Amino acid sequence: MKNNMDLPFAEPYKIKMVEPLRKSTKNERLKWIKNARYNLFNLKSEQVFIDLLTDSGTGAMSDKQWSALMLGDESYAGASSYEKLKNAVKEITGFEYFLPTHQGRAAENVLFSALIKEGDIIPGNTHFDTTKGHIEFRKALAVDCTIDEAFDTTVYHPFKGNIDLDKLGKVLKENQKGKIPFIIVTLTCNSAGGQPVSLNNLKNINELAKKYEVPVIYDSARLAENAFFIKSREEKYKEKSIREIIREMFLNADGMTMSCKKDAIVNMGGFIGLRNRELYRKATTYNIMFEGFITYGGLSGRDMEALAQGLYEGTEYDYLESRINQVHYLGKLLKDQGIPVQEPFGGHAIFVDAKRFLPHIPKEEFPAQTLATELYIDGGVRCVEISTLLTDRDPVTRKNRYPELDLVRLAIPRRVYTNNHIDYVAASLARVYKRRNTYRKGLKIVWEAPIMRHFTIELEPVQ
Ligand code: F0G
Repeated sequence: MKNNMDLPFAEPYKIKMVEPLRKSTKNERLKWIKNARYNLFNLKSEQVFIDLLTDSGTGAMSDKQWSALMLGDESYAGASSYEKLKNAVKEITGFEYFLPTHQGRAAENVLFSALIKEGDIIPGNTHFDTTKGHIEFRKALAVDCTIDEAFDTTVYHPFKGNIDLDKLGKVLKENQKGKIPFIIVTLTCNSAGGQPVSLNNLKNINELAKKYEVPVIYDSARLAENAFFIKSREEKYKEKSIREIIREMFLNADGMTMSCKKDAIVNMGGFIGLRNRELYRKATTYNIMFEGFITYGGLSGRDMEALAQGLYEGTEYDYLESRINQVHYLGKLLKDQGIPVQEPFGGHAIFVDAKRFLPHIPKEEFPAQTLATELYIDGGVRCVEISTLLTDRDPVTRKNRYPELDLVRLAIPRRVYTNNHIDYVAASLARVYKRRNTYRKGLKIVWEAPIMRHFTIELEPVQ
């Protein structure tokens, strides 16, 4: 049913089961964050009141998904649950060949093992950290070709996830054939602020790629949110359904990796979709080695059942409208209080601009991480730094890489929190914002892992 303009917006679902949340005091949180070495990943979930660390694997499954679990066929080979999922993937994305994996980075591991060799170059819009990790781990290079507008949070552009065709063309032109195994397009572009890519841009990327005979792969974790933005911002597609738009998006790709923990609203799962049989066969060997036999790939039969159902639910217009509405509700509350945020608001999260929030804290003291820990201390809200810690050191020089965007991400789990929770988050962040000039110093690193350091990093306040 379409939203009636005369009545307030309401979610197209109701709540059947609840999970209690634990409140804590500021003194408790001060102690806990210190014990967690100022790394929010080290907190126990019961030490968190509202958890906006990620929208990945944290969504609420529907009654239909929970009941689908009971239909799981746990046969090692040829399970009916596999067939069901394969059909759902084909129906939604159009891809003929499909390999299940236990999550998105596993799909990257399998596909990249088949495609990337040392010295390769993989251009794309801002690569997600596991994507970049899997590229750099293979001694290849990820080149960011996102449009410049994406790196200025004060500039409006309806599709800040777009690839700059001049930048991409230059990379394609300047490198010899065979050095670029594929182009990767992240939908929506998480690290740029959950920003969508237009269908027009997807078509142009594919045209350019075909000229150079380079395949195009979509990192599709948030494919449905991307399609929702195409429908609402790209005139030509406003009358098309979400599923029609998704099919058209994928007509411009040769393959995909997918973390189903986002738009397919499951707690675990991933897959690879491909058009080319030879590549599928090559990837199959790695899937068997790393994930499991090709008809389960690290998933139980029941997981595949819930996932197939989730793919349909996650691509329904009414659900997506309520989802994006809630994220934008938070964005507007923050903006109205003068808090600097990436605009337009993203699909899965609101990204606070830490550079503008804490301009007096030098980048060497990690303002985004400082802000994330202060928000936790104030209200027990957990969010995540999307900045220098996440970007890791340069693999060659080992120097810190300071990205243009210094962001704190407030990611909203799907169908989990009410707008009262969102009001609470906004009120707590507003308090931190009012006190921003009292935070004089940031954080310094005490210990870090050589790659993907942000998960386990240990920090302490600069004295
Ligand atoms: N690609 C994108 C764009 C992602 O956002 C993620 C995960 C992955 C790939 C990897 O998928 O977690 O299933 O292995 N993003 C999560 C996040 C972790 O918090 O944004 P995964």
